[in-house]
Amino acid sequence: MILILGKNGYVSKRFQDFFNVKKMDFVCESLRGAPQYINILLQKHKPRYVINCIGYTGVPNIDECENNKEECLRVNSIIPAVVATACKEFGIKFLHVGTGCIYQDYGSGEYPTMFSEKETPNFCFGYNNCSWYSGTKELAETMISGVCKEYYIMRLRMPFSHVSNPKNYLSKLLKYKKIWSRNNSITNLDEFVNVCYLSLEQGIPYGIYNVVNPQPICAQDILEIAKKFGLENECEIIKDSEVMKTITQSPRSDCTLSTNKLKECNLELIPTRESVSRCFGYWEKEGNPFWL
Ligand SMILES: NC(=O)c1ccc[n+]([C@@H]2O[C@H](COP(=O)([O-])OP(=O)(O)OC[C@H]3O[C@@H](n4cnc5c(N)ncnc54)[C@H](OP(=O)(O)O)[C@@H]3O)[C@@H](O)[C@H]2O)c1
Repeated sequence: MILILGKNGYVSKRFQDFFNVKKMDFVCESLRGAPQYINILLQKHKPRYVINCIGYTGVPNIDECENNKEECLRVNSIIPAVVATACKEFGIKFLHVGTGCIYQDYGSGEYPTMFSEKETPNFCFGYNNCSWYSGTKELAETMISGVCKEYYIMRLRMPFSHVSNPKNYLSKLLKYKKIWSRNNSITNLDEFVNVCYLSLEQGIPYGIYNVVNPQPICAQDILEIAKKFGLENECEIIKDSEVMKTITQSPRSDCTLSTNKLKECNLELIPTRESVSRCFGYWEKEGNPFWL
């Protein structure tokens, strides 16, 4: 039995689709009350592993986290730490969905151009430069790694897939009136789910993993690929970071993440351009192309 935490979320739903296709035993639970309820859930389901898809992501976007800081902190940092502690007590593997948006490439040469998991996050509370959302997600990493050893923190970044959704990065780019176009690491959500599953099943070394497609890509290039598949968005491209700051309430992270650690476990995702092309090729087609 696999326990997925968070029932109706974007990422949780994709894990559910995946396990349904695989015909694997899983159960999904919400954790809306006291987080200590996790102990009862672990006793009841006796899962082989727990996948935490709970997160406060803000509606319509992470800017909203700035207006509800206490709840965002509770959901993104405290709940993961409580769940990690419970998993440790019950001897259950714990996989937490993290984010890659805890790094910032200022292009100044001060930081590496590609961040590996060994790099200390630099877009977080300690640097006083981040969104509240990113701060709480980075804090979760510190707390989980402080309370348990048998954990995976899988960093997802700007998820995309062939299924249109307000949370799908490709859907967003097809809709925005203005786009910010800098090179960034992004993650095919279907590949992410598959890699999380394989990590748990194969028992790769515990720890933190950047789970992004190799090679960064910019929004403008993604729209060029979309055009080849008949999907167009005539939008304004913003190049000036000062202008960008006036569009969003909270700062956004731009960064490229290294995938070497995952590659060493033979779990690489497919190159970004190819993955994006496949998604536009399958755009909104029925069924689950689990081509991975
Ligand atoms: N989407 C992205 O762009 C993205 C990128 C990187 C990382 N992530 C991470 O991926 C995880 C899932 O994100 P998502 O996009 O699937 O988010 P989502 O669609 O907003 O879903 C969030 C989930 O969190 C649970 N939740 C929200 N508020 C809660 C609260 N107050 N108490 C308890 N549970 C609460 C909900 O559970 P119920 O459905 O059971 O009510 C829901 O399933 C998050 O940790 C997020 O930080 C997301």
